Amino acid sequence: MKTGLETLILPAGEAGAEAAARTLAAGGLVAFPTETVYGLGADAANATAVAHIYSAKGRPAFNPLIAHVPDLAAARRIGRFDARALRLAEAFWPGPLTLVVPKTENCPVSDLATAGLDTIAIRIPAHPVAEAILRAFGGAVVAPSANISGHVSPTLATHVESDLAGRIDLIIDGGPVAVGVESTIVGCFEAPMLLRPGGLSRERIEAVLGAPLARPPVEADSDDSQPLAPGMLASHYAPRATVRLQAQDVAPGEALLAFGPARLPGVGAAAAVMNLSPTADLDEAAANLFGYLRSLDAKAPRAIAVMPIPEEGLGEAINDRLRRAAVAR
Ligand code: TXA
Ligand code: MG
Repeated sequence: MKTGLETLILPAGEAGAEAAARTLAAGGLVAFPTETVYGLGADAANATAVAHIYSAKGRPAFNPLIAHVPDLAAARRIGRFDARALRLAEAFWPGPLTLVVPKTENCPVSDLATAGLDTIAIRIPAHPVAEAILRAFGGAVVAPSANISGHVSPTLATHVESDLAGRIDLIIDGGPVAVGVESTIVGCFEAPMLLRPGGLSRERIEAVLGAPLARPPVEADSDDSQPLAPGMLASHYAPRATVRLQAQDVAPGEALLAFGPARLPGVGAAAAVMNLSPTADLDEAAANLFGYLRSLDAKAPRAIAVMPIPEEGLGEAINDRLRRAAVAR
């Protein structure tokens, strides 16, 4: 493991983007903002740099990474897009959508980054800082979320710092992210498949496809078969505190993660209360989710009680992350 590194933190801007590109070209690790969460980037073609991502995060090496590119031309150098994949790319890129497509024949992305699969996950992030870095660097950048593996994903540069300082070379601070949950992953297979709910709602994708998205044939969480999106491990996005879902009341010593009007029995004696969206806006709730989990966790409550959240729009991604955060480790 590469530890004891001096982690430099720079503000976003032209100098920051140039420093990021230089660091990537030299095989270093750079955390940068995207519209979904902060990513931990490495040169996708540099196997040693990619290996450092796995060690810095403590990430299982069978879990492949998303390649980030600045435009569709760059995407098509690494992945093969059929008509349907192109339709999704044109409708939603740049944006919080990752497409899994077959690799091109001379795909320069390291096999370590794709975990030896013949498919590759690609996205064009909709964030000016990410775009500036990708353009300045010129190649594909693989980037998982910039957190210790299994921990809550980072939506602020300080979250990255508290997880990864001393393990990575550079953090570009672009302020808070807008979406707050990771990209939606669609496998462009025979039947397009929702591999991970995320920052683009299922409803919007299905409207463009004119058909429902298929569900993975194996439960993506199972550990006895090779999952289609291997990152979908059961325990993930986990704070230290126990997470209790579908709360109808608050027990003494519990913190409350509220959604909508928070008039629960026991709320007056809660260790802390944070409301994802007092007006029950699911997009606002997604943007606040990971930061509020970190803040409540820092108060070391007996547990974090979470109010019910509707399973529609970004609620599907929010509930997915909360269910994983609630899995006992
Ligand atoms: O919003 C995001 O997607 C963020 C930002 C930084 O772009 N990145 C992110 O990466 O969430 P990560 O590494 O935390 O999640 C990548 C997911 C994993 O579930 C992985 O298994 C899946 O993508 N994946 C990558 N390549 C794949 C492939 N060829 N087939 C199926 N799933 C793949
Ligand atoms: Mg992650």
